[in-house]
Amino acid sequence: MALERTFSIIKPDAVAKNLIGAIYNRFESAGLKIVASKMVHLTREQAEGFYAEHKERPFFGALVDFMTSGPIMVQVLEGENAVLANREIMGATNPADAARGTLRSDYANSIDENAVHGSDALASAEREIAYFFSAEEICPRTR
Ligand code: PPS
Repeated sequence: MALERTFSIIKPDAVAKNLIGAIYNRFESAGLKIVASKMVHLTREQAEGFYAEHKERPFFGALVDFMTSGPIMVQVLEGENAVLANREIMGATNPADAARGTLRSDYANSIDENAVHGSDALASAEREIAYFFSAEEICPRTR
């Protein structure tokens, strides 16, 4: 087992539905520790930069519109196999395909308003964490 850090977003739809605490409870109940956290309202430039790898996809404009439509919570989660653990807590991208009991099954409106983001690999986790947090903003958890 490997101690990892992953990057997570609670998207504008879930923040608007007052689900921050409920979603943090899922992370903590699964043994993931929140080691950095803040609320931000993305500019278009920030959202386009974060999702740059998808800029040729047909939904890119809609994704940027949505991600800039209201505040989001960004956080770093730490734990054993945190990248995969968080993906399992989130469920499939399309809530119609998400397993019961996952965040997207329980809370997502649709594939384009799907409540949460989580890094898909360790390399993307490192890049995404660095996009939002300086090293000083991440608090190592010793207990
Ligand atoms: S991929 O190929 O696996 O990287 O793509 P995928 O994970 O399916 O989607 C990448 C992000 O785009 C969002 N997405 C959409 N937004 C709007 N409309 C549509 N149709 C759509 N399909 C996918 C999806 O939620 C992913 O966002 P994140 O923030 O990574 O979850």
